Amino acid sequence: MKVDVLLGLQWGDEGKGKVVDVLTPRYDIIARFQGGPNAGHTLEFEGKKYVLRSIPSGIFQHGQLNIIGNGVVLDPILFKGEAEDLEKSGINIKEVLKISKKAHLILPTHRLLDAAYESLKGASKIGTTGKGIGPTYTDKVSRDGLRLGECLSDNFLEKYTSAKKRHLKLLKAVTGEDANVDELEKQWLDAINYIKTFDLIDSEFVINKSLNEGKSILCEGAQGSLLDVDFGSYPFVTSSNTICAGACAGLGVAPNKIGEVFGIFKAYCTRVGSGPFPTELFNETGAKIRAIGHEYGAVTGRERRCGWIDLVALRYTIMLNGVTQLIMMKSDVLDDFEEVCVCNSYKINGVETKDFPYSIEENIEPVYTSFPGWKTDMTKFKSEDEFPQEFKNYIKYLETELNVPISIVSVGPDREQTIIRKK
Ligand code: GDP
Ligand code: IMO
Ligand code: MG
Repeated sequence: MKVDVLLGLQWGDEGKGKVVDVLTPRYDIIARFQGGPNAGHTLEFEGKKYVLRSIPSGIFQHGQLNIIGNGVVLDPILFKGEAEDLEKSGINIKEVLKISKKAHLILPTHRLLDAAYESLKGASKIGTTGKGIGPTYTDKVSRDGLRLGECLSDNFLEKYTSAKKRHLKLLKAVTGEDANVDELEKQWLDAINYIKTFDLIDSEFVINKSLNEGKSILCEGAQGSLLDVDFGSYPFVTSSNTICAGACAGLGVAPNKIGEVFGIFKAYCTRVGSGPFPTELFNETGAKIRAIGHEYGAVTGRERRCGWIDLVALRYTIMLNGVTQLIMMKSDVLDDFEEVCVCNSYKINGVETKDFPYSIEENIEPVYTSFPGWKTDMTKFKSEDEFPQEFKNYIKYLETELNVPISIVSVGPDREQTIIRKK
C-alpha cells in the first residue's frame, strides 16, 4: 500500500480540515506530518463547528487511528485543551490518537521568543501566529530541541530546565528584561503529565507496518505550499516543509510509498500575515470575498487578505507536490459575483511570464482573464449535473490550464456540502 497526501496549494486555510474529515471513511489511518498549533482546521457537521490545531482531522469519523507524526511541533498546553474538549464531546481520544515520541515540544519560552523576534523585526515582521513555531523548529535544526519522548526519561526536568535557561538568556538579550514563565511552566508540566497518559509511539514503524499489512493512510498537511520554508514566499513563510516531501520526512514514509496527492485550493485566494500576494484585492471586491467567505483566521481571528485565484502560483505548487487530483473549495463564496477573474500569467517589468519567479516581492502585474459569474446559489447542490454552465466553464478552464482534474468541489462549510465529481 501507499500513503495518500492531502495538502494546501496556496497560503493555508484552503479547507484542509473539512476535506480530510470527508475523506476519512476511505482510510484506516489519518496522520499529521508537520506544523503545529499554528494550524487551525475547521470542521462542520450536524450543526456543530470544531477547530483542530494539532490533532488530525480524522478524529470525528468512525474510530480510525489518528497519528501526530515526528515532523509536528507540539504545545502540551494547547494540546491538552484541544484533547479535553474532544473528550467532552464524547470522543475516546486515547483510543484513537497516538503521538510520535520524536515530535518536538514547544516550550512556554518558545512562545515568548516568537513574540520577541517578531517585535525585533519591527515593520518587516512576518505576522506569525505567535505559537512559538519558528523558535521550536530552530531548536530542532540546531540540535537543541526537546522531543516528546524525553518526557519518559528520568532526567526530563533537567533537560527542560536547561532549555528554559538558555531561552531566558536569549529573551533577556532581545527584550532587555527578565521574563517570568512560572505560571505557564506550571500549566506546561501539568500538560506533560496529561500527554504521558497517551500512547507515545515510534510512528515511523506503526506507519510502515500498517502499509505492509495493507492498511490505507491519509497524510494531512498543515499551512500551504506558498508558506513552505524552501519554496514559499521566503522569508514570509512558516518554518517547516509544507510540501509533499514534508510527509516523507515528517512521518518516515519513503518517497516511493506516496500514492495520490490531493492538492486543495480555494476558488479564489487568501493570505493571513505579512508578505507578498500578487493578486490581492484592496477594493470592494476583496472586502466582499472576505465578508461572504468569513475570511478571518481560525486561530488568531485576524482578517485574511483576499484576492483572485492565481494560476501561476498554483502551477508552481502543483509541480512541487506532484498533485494528482485537485480539490476546489469555497466555490459558493463566488456565487453572487457578476464577474470572476483568474490570473493566468504575471507581467514583470513589462514581460509576460507563466513561471513563478524567484521573488514575488518585485513589480508583479497579474494578467487576468475574466469570466461571467454564475449568479446561482450552489450551497444545496448534491451533484455536478446541477452546476450552472458558467461555473462548468470556470472549472473546465482551471482544469485545462492546470492540467490536473478537479475531483471534488466544495460548496459550503458542512461535511454534506461536498460534491464528488464523476471520473
Ligand atoms: P484549513 O486550515 O485548510 O483547514 O482551513 P480553515 O478551517 O482555516 O479555513 C477554511 C474555512 O472555510 C473554515 O471556516 C471552513 O469552515 C470554511 N469552509 C471550508 N470549505 C468551505 C466551502 O466550500 N464553502 C464555504 N463557504 N466555507 C468553507
Ligand atoms: P492552516 O493549517 C494560514 C502563516 C502566519 C504567518 C506565517 C508564519 O490553518 O492552513 P508561523 O506561526 O507558522 O511562524 O507563521 O505563516 N500561517 C498560516 N496561515 N494558515 C495556516 O495554517 C498558517 N500557519 C501559519 O500567518 O504569515
Ligand atoms: Mg486554517
